[in-house]
Amino acid sequence: MARMAVESGVTALAVTPHCNMRYRNFHVPSLVHRIGRFREMLYQFQIPLKLYTGMEIMGSYDTGERLREGTLATLNGSRYPLVEFHFTGNGQEETEILDSILRFGYRPIVAHPERYLYVQEDPELLNTWLEMGCLLQINRGSLLGRFGQRASVVAHAMVDRGFAAVVASDAHSHIQRTPWMADVWEMLAGDFSPSTARRLLEEHPRRILLDQEIHMESPDWF
Ligand SMILES: [Fe+2]
Repeated sequence: MARMAVESGVTALAVTPHCNMRYRNFHVPSLVHRIGRFREMLYQFQIPLKLYTGMEIMGSYDTGERLREGTLATLNGSRYPLVEFHFTGNGQEETEILDSILRFGYRPIVAHPERYLYVQEDPELLNTWLEMGCLLQINRGSLLGRFGQRASVVAHAMVDRGFAAVVASDAHSHIQRTPWMADVWEMLAGDFSPSTARRLLEEHPRRILLDQEIHMESPDWF
């Protein structure tokens, strides 16, 4: 997967295993340790890829508190935690959880909202999340039509209307849901603009990992 990422033009990658799920969790120190070993292997195999610690956190009411006490981790220790939710829901509990994370001083990045059924049914929820100060991340696969027509339509509308802060791989393996990013870069540059591709795949990701402020222009609201 690391080789594949590098061959597709990726230079840095936030490692974001699923966390805060009943069947899967990581202790932050052991995650940091494992990523350290992964870094050593990249060096050994001469794969020029920078790795950053992260988690894809299943949002819960105690997420803000757990981030503060250090049992959950943001992206590279920044103010930006990557937070996902179940695909079904009504958006209300999710909004309350995001609000509570913001109150702890973090700026949550909502993982792949275009895949949530309640967002597909009512994208106006994205107005609320953006106004609250959340950032929205889209999956590469959604833009390429790999998660169905509805996710694709919402993902394209989000880029078109200025709702997306980041496009990411959501990589799970080297066969399916891979870290290959060249195709989505081309697609964003061609269907939208080269500066859109750069902003969503390079500038904003860099600002997140450096813990710098991200300013979103007022979008074309849903
Ligand atoms: Fe996810």
